[in-house]
Amino acid sequence: MIPKARVVVIDDEVNAAAAIEKLLREDGYDVARAHDGRSGLQAADKFDPDVVITDLRMSGMDGLDLLARIKEMHPETMVILMTAYGTVKTAVKAMKLGAEDYLAKPVDIEELEVVLQKAIEKKRLLQETRVLRERLADKYHLDNVVGQSPEMLAVFKTLRQVAPSSSSVLLLGESGTGKELFAQALHQLSPRKNRPFVKVACAALPETLLESELFGHEKGAFTGALFARAGRFEVADGGTLFLDEIGDISPTVQVKLLRFLEEREFERVGGNRTVKVDVRIVVATHRDLPKKVEEGSFRDDLYYRLNVIEIRIPSLRDRGGDIPLLAHRFICKYAKRNGKEIRGIADDALALLMRNSWPGNVRQLENAIERAVVLSNEPVLTPAHFPALDPGAEAAAPESAARGVAIPGSTLAAIEREAILRTLESTGGSTSRAAAALQISARKIQYKLKEYRRQDVVTPRRI
Ligand SMILES: Nc1ncnc2c1ncn2[C@@H]1O[C@H](COP(=O)(O)OP(=O)(O)OP(=O)(O)O)[C@@H](O)[C@H]1O
Ligand SMILES: [Mg+2]
Repeated sequence: MIPKARVVVIDDEVNAAAAIEKLLREDGYDVARAHDGRSGLQAADKFDPDVVITDLRMSGMDGLDLLARIKEMHPETMVILMTAYGTVKTAVKAMKLGAEDYLAKPVDIEELEVVLQKAIEKKRLLQETRVLRERLADKYHLDNVVGQSPEMLAVFKTLRQVAPSSSSVLLLGESGTGKELFAQALHQLSPRKNRPFVKVACAALPETLLESELFGHEKGAFTGALFARAGRFEVADGGTLFLDEIGDISPTVQVKLLRFLEEREFERVGGNRTVKVDVRIVVATHRDLPKKVEEGSFRDDLYYRLNVIEIRIPSLRDRGGDIPLLAHRFICKYAKRNGKEIRGIADDALALLMRNSWPGNVRQLENAIERAVVLSNEPVLTPAHFPALDPGAEAAAPESAARGVAIPGSTLAAIEREAILRTLESTGGSTSRAAAALQISARKIQYKLKEYRRQDVVTPRRI
């Protein structure tokens, strides 16, 4: 649904302003009215209009000053001037200051409607161009998502299935696995793709700043809040809001976010006007959220609201099959960017990449390739271009790769399993010595081993 266009009408002749207001309301606009420059400016700050229609001559602040102030604070707001004293000189000046158009008083209703429509159209175009430009400047495009392993194809499938809905999505995965890229892809695949995609890095901001960044604030809400400001929720209206590092938000922000998820509304900081927006929420974290819920630092009701659809992006070491494709993608990208003629990568170098464990996941692979491309003077990358990688690294045995556990984001059960199996390996399979080392009973180890066998994690022969 396209929101109603918002218009502020400013005229010191109360009757004239009221008449225009009435007319525009009848035409379906959302209208606010003011009778002098100062309160007009306040209305423009608070109401965040698409268009301001203002009288030119008013006591206090005249229309030209007002125009300059509005353009300074809200460059995308269209301003239309009305005057009974219209001279060519003022009109030229007004246009130079950024006015959209100029209406002679008494205002001709039909002319007003045409001029207003034109201004609104232009505002929408400007907004769309900005969104497009931002998206082009962004390195994350849908077509940048690369993957051919069964694990990634499964993620793609889920993503396509859930994209058309507005349900909240929780993206989990280690650092560098592509959570942000997938959040973007989800937006691109959704019917919201022509509306904004807005990202907020929650961990980067202190609590109070994050709250006003997300929900906006009214003028005077706190020291330094000189103007009212729309938050990211309002900016993302009709689109997608990507909340990165959601595991780190404070209890206050958690409560506000929960209310939004339940009622789709909120108030700006320091305000009491309820704002309703249509925003799809996508959140990501590399933290173990269930654990945070258990510890009490993350609300369980919020967790369940966010976790409507959970997409877990596997770490790169669990999908080595994607490495050749990713490597080629990154070689092309950086060869082009650096004006290098690099055709590809030698088999032994690719094998080296595939043997590496990539704790920093795709981001680390991308950095390694960027560095190799920049430093290479040859048309094909060789192992020598990857001096930081250990050439002796053994390819991980399939079972241990599947079993591998990285602490951040791992479940307690996985960590426990890893501790038990590794200790048993180090004791040559002796349960009593492993039990002593782990300070648990030998019976517990026996019991756990039975469980792992049932899950096919270990075979009786291995231990
Ligand atoms: N499947 C993929 N195809 C192509 N590029 C990818 C893929 N996955 C990740 N990348 C690239 O790897 C880098 C890291 O990805 P991204 O920033 O999305 O990771 P993240 O999971 O959000 O990490 P963090 O938790 O550290 O924020 C980016 O440059 C991204 O473009
Ligand atoms: Mg990220």
